[in-house]
Amino acid sequence: MRLSNLLLTGREGQLGLAFCEHWAHQGLDKKFNLVAVDRRELDITNPVEVEKLLTQFRPSIILNTAAYTRVDDAESNEDSAYAVNSRAVGYLASWCESYSCHLIHVSTDFVFDGLASSPYSVDADPNPLGVYGLSKREGELEVLSRPELRGTVIRTSWLYSERGQNFVRTILRLMSEGNEIKVVDDQIGSPTSVHSLCSFINTLILDDGDPGLYHFTDGGEISWYDFAVMVREEGIDIGLLPESSSVNPVKTKDYFTAARRPSYSVLSIESAAPYSQGCAPDWRKELRKVLIRIHQRNKFLEAQRDEK
Ligand SMILES: NC(=O)c1ccc[n+]([C@@H]2O[C@H](COP(=O)([O-])OP(=O)(O)OC[C@H]3O[C@@H](n4cnc5c(N)ncnc54)[C@H](OP(=O)(O)O)[C@@H]3O)[C@@H](O)[C@H]2O)c1
Repeated sequence: MRLSNLLLTGREGQLGLAFCEHWAHQGLDKKFNLVAVDRRELDITNPVEVEKLLTQFRPSIILNTAAYTRVDDAESNEDSAYAVNSRAVGYLASWCESYSCHLIHVSTDFVFDGLASSPYSVDADPNPLGVYGLSKREGELEVLSRPELRGTVIRTSWLYSERGQNFVRTILRLMSEGNEIKVVDDQIGSPTSVHSLCSFINTLILDDGDPGLYHFTDGGEISWYDFAVMVREEGIDIGLLPESSSVNPVKTKDYFTAARRPSYSVLSIESAAPYSQGCAPDWRKELRKVLIRIHQRNKFLEAQRDEK
């Protein structure tokens, strides 16, 4: 039987890499042929390239993980952020609409202003505070406002992994270099491992889930400061960090960043329940799993260096 193509964009990003690692685990490989492309193979901001590659592979599903994710840089690179996070999503959505392809697009908790005090449901009104959130919201609308499109938007938050640029890896690096670290303690959210997000996406695809808007994060909520404290404690326990490493709390008003961030961006994940076996993975357990992966990866890289 000829398998239909599932096209993944953003292959070298932290979510793209994890999807390539996991996609066969739950049996997606029995149903689809994975075509995973990075920016060199498909720059999604180029409509001619998009049309050409999609016409060549004729995917039945596109998972768009490509994004402009540098939240602070976006403030001074507005056009680049909108090109990737919004206009390019429009090119993909338009092709998918014409060829009955299911577009699964990933979005962010930063579409909210953070003024809520309980988790944001999928019905809550977005009100982004910065260019990144605004450009991602426009991307969402490119998918959700086309009635003829089989389109799915998955909002997630505070993504991290053993690879790529993320808070956990930055904190580990700064702590292991002995730097004095300050982390804001008045921004609350839900850390999410790329591995649990992939498991959710895989199940959604395998179950031929309904199109629409979903929120998926790991379960629980915490401040960035308390998250850093947990990275420290678990990191010491696993042997990734020395006992001497430390982290101090700071208030957002005393910590300058180019972009404003929501002070509370916890997402209600009720909508995701049918595809996450009804229960959210506990973020603490997921953090420990990723730290163990980082430890194993470090040991592997050290062994490779020793062999040379
Ligand atoms: N990271 C988070 O904390 C977070 C939180 C909530 C939601 N999200 C969303 O989750 C999704 C995945 O995020 P992530 O953390 O995996 O991001 P990431 O690690 O920054 O990866 C994004 C990937 O997109 C690629 N890309 C950028 N511009 C492109 C273009 N014009 N054409 C093709 N590829 C392009 C990047 O390539 P280059 O490296 O070459 O630029 C990179 O490989 C994104 O939609 C993001 O908005 C992320």
